[in-house]
Amino acid sequence: MYYAIILFGFAVNPCCYYPCQNSGVCVRFGNDHYQCDCTRTGFYGDNCTVPEFRTRIRLLLKPNPSFAQYLLTHFQWFWDLLNNSFLRDTVMRLVLTSRSSLIPSPPTHNTKYGYLSWESYYNTSYYTLLLPPVPEDCPLLMGTKGKQTLPDPKVLAERFFKRKKFRPDPQGTNLMFAFMAQHFTHQFFKSNHEVKAGFTKAFGHGVDASNIYGDTLERQHQLRLHKDGKLKYQLVHGEVFPPTVSEAPVYMKHNRVCDILRAEHPTWDDEQLFQTTRLIIIGEIIKIIIEDYVQHLSGYFLKLKFDPTLLFNERFQYSNRIALEFGQLYHWHPLMPDSFIIDGEEVTYSQFIYNTSLLTHHGVEKLVDSFSRQAAGQIGGGHNSHEVVLKVAEMTIKESREARIQPFNEYRKKFNLKPYTSFYEFTDDPEMAKGLEELYGDIDALEFYPGLMLEKTRPNAIFGESMVEMGAPFSLKGLLGNPLCSPEYWKPSTFGGETGFHIVKSATLQNLVCHNSKWYPYVHFRVSKKEQEMNPRKQSTEL
Ligand code: HEM
Ligand SMILES: *[C@@H]1O[C@H](CO)[C@@H](O)[C@H](O)[C@H]1NC(C)=O
Ligand SMILES: *[C@@H]1O[C@H](CO)[C@@H](O)[C@H](O)[C@H]1NC(C)=O
Ligand SMILES: *[C@@H]1O[C@H](CO)[C@@H](O)[C@H](O)[C@H]1NC(C)=O
Ligand SMILES: *[C@@H]1O[C@H](CO)[C@@H](O)[C@H](O)[C@H]1NC(C)=O
Repeated sequence: MYYAIILFGFAVNPCCYYPCQNSGVCVRFGNDHYQCDCTRTGFYGDNCTVPEFRTRIRLLLKPNPSFAQYLLTHFQWFWDLLNNSFLRDTVMRLVLTSRSSLIPSPPTHNTKYGYLSWESYYNTSYYTLLLPPVPEDCPLLMGTKGKQTLPDPKVLAERFFKRKKFRPDPQGTNLMFAFMAQHFTHQFFKSNHEVKAGFTKAFGHGVDASNIYGDTLERQHQLRLHKDGKLKYQLVHGEVFPPTVSEAPVYMKHNRVCDILRAEHPTWDDEQLFQTTRLIIIGEIIKIIIEDYVQHLSGYFLKLKFDPTLLFNERFQYSNRIALEFGQLYHWHPLMPDSFIIDGEEVTYSQFIYNTSLLTHHGVEKLVDSFSRQAAGQIGGGHNSHEVVLKVAEMTIKESREARIQPFNEYRKKFNLKPYTSFYEFTDDPEMAKGLEELYGDIDALEFYPGLMLEKTRPNAIFGESMVEMGAPFSLKGLLGNPLCSPEYWKPSTFGGETGFHIVKSATLQNLVCHNSKWYPYVHFRVSKKEQEMNPRKQSTEL
C-alpha cells in the first residue's frame, strides 16, 4: 500500500482498490490493511483469486454467456423440438436457478451500509445495493482509477446519449412493449426524491400491483369502491375507465375478475373478493411478464414457461428486495420514438404527455393497436435518446454518483463477465471509444449506467451483453421470488378455486386485452414483419 501513499500522498483505504475478486468481501484492518473473506466463493488466497479444485471443474464446464445466448437465439428447429418435452422444464429450471442465484437473498448492502447490518436488512425505505457503495474516503469517486473529476453528466448525455436519427430496435420491439415496461416497472421503481438517492416509496419491493392498487393502504381505500371487491371506475360513452389519470392506459381490469369470483362465492364480503382478486391480478401479471414480455425481450427460441413448481425442489428464497442498480439499469428511454402515430395521425410529445383525453377520445383498443404497430427505439449502443427524455439520462448518472455506485467493470465481474480492458473493446464505435477515454481516462472508471447503455449491442439485439446478464437475474428473482410462487401459496384455494387459478395460468397479453375490449386490436410486444419493414422508412421521411 506504499504505492498508494506515493500516488495520492496519504494512506488510502485499501478497499478502494477493489482487491477482492469473485465476490470476496473486503474488510479494512488498521489504517492500510485489508482482508478478503472468501467464504463459500469457491476461491481462496489473499484476494480470493485461486480456484478450489471443484471450482476449476465448474469453470471448465460452464458455457460462457455469449455462447449460451447464441444457442438460445439460434437453432429454432431444435427448440421447437424441445418445446413439448420434459427437457423444456429442465432448461427452464436451469435458466431460473442460474440467473437468480446471482442475487443475494436476503439482501445485503444499501447506500449507507457497505457492510452487513441489521438496519440495511430491516429498513425497507432503502433500495438494496448489490455491491457496497464506493467507500466515502476513497481518493476518487470511482475508487482509485480515472481522472480527478468525472465527466459532466450533461456532456455525456449530449455526446453519447442524444439521438441523431431514430434507430428502431432490430428485435422489432414496439411501443406497446415500451409502455408495458414503464407501467410494470413503476410499481417497484419509485425513487423517493424528497430524501436522497437510494430511497424508495414502493415498499412492496416487487410485483405487488401497487401501480393499480396504490402504494399505501390509505391510497388503496381511496381507489376502492367498497362494494363487491371492486375498484372505482367512471363511465365515458358507456365504457368503463379507471377513475384517476394514469400515464399509460390501464388494462388490468380488476373488476371483471371480481364479477367472476362473486358468482362462485356469493357469501364472500367486499374485502375477501378484493384481496383474492388482487392475488389473481398479480399472478396474471407475472405470467404475462415472463411468457410474453421477457420472451420477446430475450429473443430466445426456448419457449419460456411460468411454472413455480419448477423451483419447488431447488434452494430458493421467496423474498425480494429491489436494488438501486436494477432501477438504474431499467432507464430504457431510448425506446421512445420521435413522435407517436395514433390512428394514422402524428401526435407530438407535448400533445401526448399527461394527456388522458387520448385514452377516452380514442378508446383503449385504438391505443393498443397503434402502440403495437409503432416501432420503439433500440435501447443499447448510444445516440438514440430523444431530446424530451435526454435529461433523464443526466439525472440517472447524477443519482448513481450520489449513491456511490461502483464502476461498470466491478459489476461485470460480479456477474461473472470479464471486465473490459479498453474502451475500444467496450464499443465498436471508435469515435465513442475515443471520447469516453478522454473523459474517463480509464476503462475501470467507466460508470455503471453509461456502461450498460453505451456498450456495443449484440448482433441484431436491443442491447448489449451486460444489460442481459445483469438485468435477467434481477428480473427473474423478482418475478419468482414473489410469495405467490411459493409452495404455500401456489394452489387453487389461494385464487378462490380452480377458476381463479386457471385465470392466472392462462393469462396472456392477448387475453388480457381481448377480455377488456369491444373489438380485438392488433396486440403484441413486437411490430409485425410488415410494419418492421415499413417503419424505419416512415420514420425517416417524417424527420
Ligand atoms: C414519454 C416517455 C417518458 C418520459 C417523459 C419519462 C420521463 C421520466 C422522468 C422525468 C423520470 C425521473 C427521472 C429522475 O428524476 O431521476 C423517469 C424515471 C424513470 N423512467 Fe421514464 N420516461 C418515459 C418513458 C419511460 C419508459 C418507456 C421506460 C421503460 C422502462 C421508463 C423507465 C423509467 C425508470 C425505470 C425510471 C426510474 C423510476 C424511479 O426510480 O423512480 N421511462 N422517467
Ligand atoms: C491482491 O490485490 C492487491 C491490490 O489489488 C495487490 O497489490 C496484491 O498483489 C494482490 N495479492 C495477491 C496475492 O495477488
Ligand atoms: C409448443 O407447445 C405448445 C403446447 O405445449 C403449443 O401450443 C405451441 O404451438 C408449441 N410451439 C411451437 C413453436 O412448436
Ligand atoms: C429508514 O432510514 C431512514 C434514513 O436513516 C430513516 O429516516 C427512516 O426513519 C428509517 N425507516 C424506518 C422504518 O426505520
Ligand atoms: C390531447 O389529446 C386530445 C385527443 O387526441 C387532443 O384533441 C388534444 O389537443 C390534446 N391536448 C393537448 C394539450 O395537446
